Amino acid sequence: MADLTVTYCGVKFPNPLVLPSGIAQEIPADHERAIKAGAGGITTKSLTIESREGNPLPRVAKYEQGFLNSVGLRGPGIEKGKVLIEEFLKTSPVPVIVSVFATRVKDFERFAGELCPLNPPLFELNLSCPNVDDMGKPLGLGCESSAAAVSAVKKIAGKIPVLAKLTPNVPNIAEVARACEDAGADGIAAINTVGPGMLIDITRRKPILGAKRGGVSGPAIKPVAVRCVYDIYEAVKIPIIGMGGVTTWQDAVEMMMAGATLVGVGSATYLKGYAVYEEIKKGLEKYMDKEGLKSLKQLVGVAHEL
Ligand SMILES: Cc1cc2nc3c(=O)[nH]c(=O)nc-3n(C[C@H](O)[C@H](O)[C@H](O)COP(=O)(O)O)c2cc1C
Repeated sequence: MADLTVTYCGVKFPNPLVLPSGIAQEIPADHERAIKAGAGGITTKSLTIESREGNPLPRVAKYEQGFLNSVGLRGPGIEKGKVLIEEFLKTSPVPVIVSVFATRVKDFERFAGELCPLNPPLFELNLSCPNVDDMGKPLGLGCESSAAAVSAVKKIAGKIPVLAKLTPNVPNIAEVARACEDAGADGIAAINTVGPGMLIDITRRKPILGAKRGGVSGPAIKPVAVRCVYDIYEAVKIPIIGMGGVTTWQDAVEMMMAGATLVGVGSATYLKGYAVYEEIKKGLEKYMDKEGLKSLKQLVGVAHEL
């Protein structure tokens, strides 16, 4: 039987398929469903300092090739969120990546100060949420602002690996990744949603989403995600979690060949349910057996070889 285990930043994952942040909303119930269904790791919904109601309904819209979302980081805020995360960390049988979002370096420092003592296996800085205009611009839009957040958190996080989650909505994502690596990031997660985009209901003659604009995810963005992971892989040595439109085992293999060590499977759970994790795992096992692969490591970045 093929061995799907993957080590990422020194943390052992039973398989390479990770639930990306925000796909499951409530901690712990929605996150536990993904674990039961076979996800190899869980990223918690990005926490904000203050509690947030989220954007007006509807917040998610489906179209033929993907999804548009503008959840607006609905969530409990750091005080309540910290308690939920502490409990979830104690019970999760798979590695947990704790995700936080802020637009100010000092808020990221506060998150690190409060959450790193809980000893999460990995700590992810969401530098890239596009749906929260009221909070200001995401730090991931610039190299210097990204690096400032990473280096401030690294000083506090100690041995806990710090990941930078990047936006594709920049002219050169590889430069931002390199700035994060230089600032001490241990890994990169990419990509967050593309856009923003808009869908219009022609009967109501209005944008479908309550917030009008929303980030695009799902199959439509896969080529953008693969290109971003490919570019990042060429620019940095730290390992990558690649995500964006992965829906089949073939997509997962493609993402690894571009340079991803772990693969996020998010919007695909809306299309196929959480059963998508078992489906992709079975496909990967068969592929490994057929190709005679001992470890998925053998696939990472092979598309770069001459
Ligand atoms: C409804 C929804 C909510 C999301 N919330 C977050 C979030 O809180 N933090 C974050 O870093 N990314 C968030 N994302 C982005 C995903 O984590 C992921 O990067 C993106 O959807 C691309 O992967 P996919 O095509 O497999 O969904 C969200 C995406 C969706 C669809």
